[in-house]
Amino acid sequence: MRIRAVYPGSFDPVTNGHIDLIQRSAQVFGEVIVAILENTEKTPLFTLEERKEMLGEAVGRLKNVSVVSFRGLLVDFAQQIGASVIIRGIRAVSDYEYELQMALMNRRLSSTVETVFMIPAEAYSYLSSRLVKEISAFGGSVKGLVPRQVEKRLAAKYKNYPKSS
Ligand code: PNS
Repeated sequence: MRIRAVYPGSFDPVTNGHIDLIQRSAQVFGEVIVAILENTEKTPLFTLEERKEMLGEAVGRLKNVSVVSFRGLLVDFAQQIGASVIIRGIRAVSDYEYELQMALMNRRLSSTVETVFMIPAEAYSYLSSRLVKEISAFGGSVKGLVPRQVEKRLAAKYKNYPKSS
């Protein structure tokens, strides 16, 4: 059976950890839909269009992967697109509590969508979009943590950001 899976997130911006997980998922599932959340509570650094472009550039060459955006409840979106699996990445034990809560709540909302946790490469176990933004804001190097094009976009966003007092 060809399973369609949805990989949701803010992707603000996409990191090499996300890409690693997408590549792994693409080998396990028939189709992977990377879904960027539109109605996030947090104010993103990158616009939805920018986040979509960066993801497209990073994973566009994978034949069974596509990038879309969604609003509203994730389980509703999964059902709309016929996805029976939600993929979430777990980097360390600290991720587990929040992810478990979300997976169980999603199961309560829809018993037909199953959450599958995947583990990224060890090298990315301490990587997050939040840290990447913080490092970039203060002029640190994020080489090897995000694709080259994301590095450049981060540098451009923080061009006029005060580096030190
Ligand atoms: O990358 P993130 O920010 O950790 O992703 C969180 C995301 C997008 C998966 C989560 O916030 C989500 O699914 N939001 C959609 C609204 C929803 O369904 N909320 C109930 C979750 S139990």
